Amino acid sequence: MKRPMPQNGTDWETLKDQMSSLAEGDMDWRNGRTGMYVFYAGEDVLKVAKEAYTMFMSENALGPLAFPSLKQMEDDVVGMGLSLLNAPESAVGNMTSGGSESIFLALKTARDWARDHKKFDGEPEVVLPQSAHLAFDRASHYLGLKTVRVPLGPDLKADAEAMGKAITSNTIMIVGSAPCYPFGLIDPIEELSQLALSHDVWLHVDACVGGYFAPFARMNGVEVPAFDFSAEGVRSMSADLHKYGYAAKGASTVLYRADELQRYQIFDCEDWPGGRMVTPTAAGTRPGGAIAAAWAVMNYLGVDGYREKAAAVVSTRQKLQEAVAGNNRLHVHGDPLLGLIAFGSHELKIFSVYKKMYERGWFTSVSTDPQGIHLMLTPAHEQVIDDYIADLRESVEDVAGNESQADEMKARYS
Ligand SMILES: Cc1ncc(COP(=O)(O)O)c(C=O)c1O
Repeated sequence: MKRPMPQNGTDWETLKDQMSSLAEGDMDWRNGRTGMYVFYAGEDVLKVAKEAYTMFMSENALGPLAFPSLKQMEDDVVGMGLSLLNAPESAVGNMTSGGSESIFLALKTARDWARDHKKFDGEPEVVLPQSAHLAFDRASHYLGLKTVRVPLGPDLKADAEAMGKAITSNTIMIVGSAPCYPFGLIDPIEELSQLALSHDVWLHVDACVGGYFAPFARMNGVEVPAFDFSAEGVRSMSADLHKYGYAAKGASTVLYRADELQRYQIFDCEDWPGGRMVTPTAAGTRPGGAIAAAWAVMNYLGVDGYREKAAAVVSTRQKLQEAVAGNNRLHVHGDPLLGLIAFGSHELKIFSVYKKMYERGWFTSVSTDPQGIHLMLTPAHEQVIDDYIADLRESVEDVAGNESQADEMKARYS
């Protein structure tokens, strides 16, 4: 809807007040009662991200010659990602605006690589486990690819054998998640890797959630299976910094085993009057703030800092997992290892329990097949998990005593 721009400007103090009033209806994510959207690792981390962001807010990473600082910081961030994810020396990558862009770029790169190396007799296809993020469908829609979703195994993880049967001569990529969004489970990447190698097909691991979490959980002793470049068949990975990297929003990494693969990502053109332009990612102008904030937070926390955060999140998840397992009306979906957990009920309509929890002030997400309550836990939840568990127990009892239960959740993004 059109609305007129004010004729005269307004002073910043007044605007700030207006914006604070606008925010009064927003979730208070600092209090730990939100289980999605915000990854809050404490005021000190936030301060570092904010100050670094504003220091480089005006700079543009489209111009590495003008801003070698940003080029250096991007190289450092990508380099840290590659070493955490056991990449070989040949590996390369870029920072992007988020998981969706990283996935978009990996698909475009795999498609264009396949055009040079394979023969198609139909639409290029992407074979996904049912639990892969729908960013793959969105990117496939943009890129003219057909998605083939394969049912999960009984453990709610990718079924490598079934995925193998779905591979055809038109398959340009197979996908595994580490972990998947709906249940927080790590797919059998080693098995998918064997599949990829035996079919000579591209394997992408979507580690948007786990890329900057699982390595630290493993250092803390969690038995995380191989999920990264240590599996030979993995050609690319997406790993988000604005999730468990605790960076400012607008920061992810897309990583490739070798630059012969990544070169299909780069757009290099001079057929216009504005001169040659080389853009490695989907954006033109690339915000310096997002790169600077990621660089600063990674160096501020270091391995020890991330390990500490990972330990807090894993123990919070374990506490919730034990409480759910100890409630005979509830069960956990699969066996999560990191910070994401979903749980359902064979007996109750779980969305009714969700509603009761929402009324008690908890704003989390859901899974739909199987139905469940879904949380992405962060260090902020350590302080409130006992309250959550107590409210969950009461909500379950409320619903158990009530005949009319909700079957559906309203779509979250409408
Ligand atoms: C596993 C997974 N992949 C990709 C994405 C998309 O990331 P973004 O929202 O940063 O585009 C998400 C978002 O939650 C995710 O959980």
